[in-house]
Amino acid sequence: MSLTEQESTILNQNDNQIIIEANPLIFDNVLAEHEVNSILYLVEKWQSRFLTTETGDDNSRSLDKQKRDSLVLFDFEPIYSFFRLQLLKYAEPVKQRFNYEMDWNKGYECQLTAHNDGHFYTAHTDYAANTGTRVSLRNLTFVYYFYQEPKSFEGGELFLWNHYAKDCSPLERANEGVYIEPLRNRVIFFESKYWHEVLKINCPSQEFMNSRFTLNGWLH
Ligand SMILES: [Fe+2]
Repeated sequence: MSLTEQESTILNQNDNQIIIEANPLIFDNVLAEHEVNSILYLVEKWQSRFLTTETGDDNSRSLDKQKRDSLVLFDFEPIYSFFRLQLLKYAEPVKQRFNYEMDWNKGYECQLTAHNDGHFYTAHTDYAANTGTRVSLRNLTFVYYFYQEPKSFEGGELFLWNHYAKDCSPLERANEGVYIEPLRNRVIFFESKYWHEVLKINCPSQEFMNSRFTLNGWLH
């Protein structure tokens, strides 16, 4: 069963919090509508500053469009700080689910991405031990989805595997995960060590502002 079907049942029963087998936490209606629109207004202003995404860590980064193709913005204050504050709203359920204490003094990374026509991110984990970089400090991954309405793209779901087994290829576990629909104004938390993938987006207009946008990052 896809998460979308499961959601419709659980959402009716339990406010807007969902816990599924792969153990992410998902919340809808994260920001007020005027806040989403303010972020979209700034994103449009900053369009020319978006860069092509790379993969790797602080020591070694490379452009590999076979692995990942999307756009990213690294400098986006005041949204960067504003969103950090928003995440603290979920400190209690995050603590209960992941045994992780959110703390203002802990590390926080956040980037703003745009996925347009044909963009994707192949299976990867956000955490790697002993790299001596920020990647080895990541505990939780968060992804917040937003886009302009009416929605003008298809796809772009997150596929999250249920199990973490580094000696097992993602393909071997392809039937052991969940699809998470990138609904507008939704945030998802999951442990950074889990394999995940962004499925290809179809955005026929290819207009930047019709992209599937995220604020995504990591809590150390
Ligand atoms: Fe990731």
